[in-house]
Amino acid sequence: MTFKKLISAAAAVCAAASLSGQTAQLDIDLKKVGAPIQETMYGIFFEDINFAADGGLYAEMLMNRSFEYPNDRLQGWRAFGKVEVRSDGPFERNPHYVRLSDPGHAHKHTGLANNGWFGLGVKEGGQYRFSFWARSDKKVSLRVELFDQASMGEQQQFCSEKISVDSREWTRYQLILNSPLTMQKAGLRLFMETRDAYVDLEHVSLFPTDTYNGHENGMRKDLAEALADLKPGIFRFPGGCIVEGTDLATRYNWKNSVGPVENRPLNENRWEYTFTHRFFPDYYQSYGLGFFEFFQLSEEIGAEPLPILSVGLACQFQNNDESAHASLDELQPFIDDALDLIEFANGPADSQWGGLRASMGHPEPFGLKYLGIGNEQWDQTYPDHLRPFVEQIRAKYPEIKIVGSSGPDSEGAKFDYLWPEMRKLGADLVDEHFYRPYEWFLAQGNRYDNYDRKGPKVFAGEYACHARGKKYNHYKAALLEAAFMTGLERNADIVHMATYAPLFAHVEGWQWRPDLIWYDNLNSFRTVSWHVQQLYGQYRGSNVLTLTMEGKPVAGNDDQQGLFASAVVEGNLIYVKVANVSEEERQLSFNFTTKSKKDSIKAVKRIDLCSDKLYEDNSLEAPENIVPTEKALSGTGKAINATIAAQSFSVFVFEK
Ligand code: AHR
Repeated sequence: MTFKKLISAAAAVCAAASLSGQTAQLDIDLKKVGAPIQETMYGIFFEDINFAADGGLYAEMLMNRSFEYPNDRLQGWRAFGKVEVRSDGPFERNPHYVRLSDPGHAHKHTGLANNGWFGLGVKEGGQYRFSFWARSDKKVSLRVELFDQASMGEQQQFCSEKISVDSREWTRYQLILNSPLTMQKAGLRLFMETRDAYVDLEHVSLFPTDTYNGHENGMRKDLAEALADLKPGIFRFPGGCIVEGTDLATRYNWKNSVGPVENRPLNENRWEYTFTHRFFPDYYQSYGLGFFEFFQLSEEIGAEPLPILSVGLACQFQNNDESAHASLDELQPFIDDALDLIEFANGPADSQWGGLRASMGHPEPFGLKYLGIGNEQWDQTYPDHLRPFVEQIRAKYPEIKIVGSSGPDSEGAKFDYLWPEMRKLGADLVDEHFYRPYEWFLAQGNRYDNYDRKGPKVFAGEYACHARGKKYNHYKAALLEAAFMTGLERNADIVHMATYAPLFAHVEGWQWRPDLIWYDNLNSFRTVSWHVQQLYGQYRGSNVLTLTMEGKPVAGNDDQQGLFASAVVEGNLIYVKVANVSEEERQLSFNFTTKSKKDSIKAVKRIDLCSDKLYEDNSLEAPENIVPTEKALSGTGKAINATIAAQSFSVFVFEK
């Protein structure tokens, strides 16, 4: 039987049942501790795709808060009465605002309503900070309410507060709305109650007060917690293709994403229009979740930040014409963006960009160590563009590790061309991307065993198992990711970072799947792939141990019973990860070679990820449909036996 063939939908049995095949003896050498496993080894890839930022992790609840959506300044709003869009507002990079005036009749009303991206999710007992900038010609009373448009009750509003605007100069106002109930799709509405007056409103915003770590311009708590719980070592942001832009003008421009949120200019989001079969004409980037927030979040979840910046090439998938890209003599502003970013992250508080960071509330440096230049680039134009970045970054900041790209493919002409080029340029790491089918993951167990050890290290920067015709989250895909990752771990001397992609998806707003974490307006769930990542993050270990079967790495080869395995050590604990992709339960024997004859190993526990629901995953309705289970493991000595269920993944924990 060839285990590199597609595993079929046979019932997996998690409990021990009849054994078949011979015992697989996994030899683990404790006499020699292998390569250190980098703290950055397992991490997070963030891109604003699938409404990952606005409408997702970024906790802002109102769409188009600054009235800057370019096709319709009131997109996302429903205006009634007399509402006029004006363009001489207080924030020069977001100049539009609205003027609300007397509707002209005692029985008419002026105001605005906003349903956020997919409705406003509010929770019983939850507090929501409603804030806005305003000025008026006299004291104006506003009534602000949360409401249910679909209500059959006497009244639609279920929470209502009043606030007066009494300043002729632009001033920030805020009030707290206390929701008495939980609602998935509420709306926010405000009425101007004063007649014979006007009030100007700008940056109209609604945030839960209960954000991750309580930041006012904060993150949705359940989603940020799902990141922290991964125990990530690296946090790559802000993408992905979004870094490049469909044209250079719309690339992610980090300098527009810092400073006061009110003055961060809107950018388009290419995922608005990239796929017309999943089309979202109201998808923009407010940059409210900007580089300061990315750095802050990295720090708070314990991950090293890894920003990726434009190399001056617009998305090469979308542009064949050279004129779309910056020419080599136009590159300096892009290089300056990279140098200035390092100063923003690490510079002293009295430097220009370090000063901006300090003014935003973080005088201490963020300690940036890694910087990626370019995302999915290819052809000679990429090394040509990258070279001056490398030269200038090396000259000014020799301590920064530079991440280059190997293009969009896991192998083939572009990949084969770029790896040697990255080596020549002296990139510290090379970013590889692979969204590939079952067969690819099954065949790649040995991928890194024979990589050149002298060149750059590997950053598996975007990957996920995409079965043909099954591009959705399911257990089998996650199992193959787990199997493949044993090869990352075994080769931790060269693989220094790995990040599954994409990270987030709103159930009503996705363009791309599978994704690691899904959510609606109120709730979220962690996919089986998330649990695989979490198990690797939690049981990362400090050093690789050599694990072999009949003298060979265990990588799902034809004579290896469908097993993939790797081992690491951390202090006196040994973590052995085994994936069994076969349709048979396997009998395992862990054989330890110890330093001294009298050393004995004690089995501690095992964590199993096992299911016969091969094409299912977790969901909002059943968030724990398939989750790991932990149980004690018994046995002492140098040879410890255990079984592993068909089509399952386990982490075995032993003590030295
Ligand atoms: O993760 C989605 C996209 O896949 C990324 O933006 C891009 O880098 C890759 O092609």
